[in-house]
Amino acid sequence: MTDSKNHTLHVFSNAVAMAESAASCWLKLLGQRNSGQQFTVALSGGRTPRALYSETVKQACDKGVSFDDVHFFWGDERCVPPDDGENNFQIAAEHLFAPLQIVEEQIHRIKGECDETFAVNQAESEICRVSELNDDGQPVLDLVLLGMGEDGHVASLFPSDKEAFESSAVYRAITGPKPPPRRITLGYPALAEAQAAWVLISGKGKADVLRASLASDDSTPLARVLSSRTHTEIFTDFDLA
Ligand code: 6PG
Repeated sequence: MTDSKNHTLHVFSNAVAMAESAASCWLKLLGQRNSGQQFTVALSGGRTPRALYSETVKQACDKGVSFDDVHFFWGDERCVPPDDGENNFQIAAEHLFAPLQIVEEQIHRIKGECDETFAVNQAESEICRVSELNDDGQPVLDLVLLGMGEDGHVASLFPSDKEAFESSAVYRAITGPKPPPRRITLGYPALAEAQAAWVLISGKGKADVLRASLASDDSTPLARVLSSRTHTEIFTDFDLA
């Protein structure tokens, strides 16, 4: 583990060990709540969360940690139906919500299959209804879970999306270079405001872009998020050395 000005880097030898540690940290955070205190979390998409979900379920059952009052949102969603294999909600439903018997009232999915303007407005009003808000009306989530792509994108904030740098929208519909192209993503302001932000990065192929992101304030979307926050936890299953 290495601590730097605005992030802590946790390096693991493999994806399972990374998932075990992130799951244990998450359950520790949940365990620190007062009873009945809600917890708001934005889940990430892509492949990496699956191992985290399975490990979280296993440890939660072993340790008897409750997920009552945890409200689930997404950092981004692909504009595909919830039964589509590319849908981020579906992975959580199968590997986290069903095993933990999470009730519908706690799940605030982005309706990627609907008209985008409707889906963006619905997702925004839902996250702002449930979450604490800062003075600018941005949701202050307890935890944001992110992955990172080979181009340094996080959520669906891609390097080519210059509009995102200026936008104060909580959620936006975008066209990204990673299939499926149409997506709805949280913006930089909400990622900056979260109480905790954890980036789980799997795959040695991402080492160079992670190094570049740690070495500058704006060379990649991840770099922008790191420089907008006082602290971010980064978990990797590869060594940067
Ligand atoms: C998405 C994601 C995206 C993802 C990264 C890493 O919906 O595509 O939210 O930001 O986290 O692309 O994806 P992998 O975990 O599959 O490498």
